[in-house]
Amino acid sequence: MKTDMGLPHDNMVGDRANIPHHVAIIMDGNGRWAKKRGLPRTAGHKAGAETFRTIAGHCRDLGMDYFTVYAFSTENWKRPAEEVEAIMGLLEKYLIDSVNEMEEDRIRLKFFGDTSVLTPRLQELIRRTDEIAERLPGCFHANVYVNYVGRVEILRAARALAASGG
Ligand code: FPP
Repeated sequence: MKTDMGLPHDNMVGDRANIPHHVAIIMDGNGRWAKKRGLPRTAGHKAGAETFRTIAGHCRDLGMDYFTVYAFSTENWKRPAEEVEAIMGLLEKYLIDSVNEMEEDRIRLKFFGDTSVLTPRLQELIRRTDEIAERLPGCFHANVYVNYVGRVEILRAARALAASGG
């Protein structure tokens, strides 16, 4: 059957069969993005957080299962205090929006990494998103890593792979 879109319809079906199960990214370039536009670095972080939300929605709509972002490593605590504060503020906003929207959006947001050093307010919000995520079995997963150590995560993945028979 010929669709309004013509031949690409068939190609799209083919492409969808090749959609990955999981895509993971390391957030980078927020500062450079802002600098190019004559904006403060914090504007780049705000745009980065919004972009993560947008991409997560697209991944869900494409039928993927997981989208993971490595957002803030242990190294990132060494940044100027006002930048770290702004990033923590963005995480708080992201969590508040998620508490309000993840059920409607059908997105299981989960935070990973050592979250025990975050403020009690952020930890409480993470507990709330965890509770909501429990009520969304089978839904698309959006994962955010904070206070993570890259090498530890590689080691963890290698061990898990070895344990599963490789
Ligand atoms: C990397 O860009 C960005 C970070 C280390 C921090 C990003 C964290 C957030 C925006 C918090 C909220 C995020 C989510 C997903 C809810 P960079 O500053 O290293 O950029 P540069 O390489 O251009 O300097």
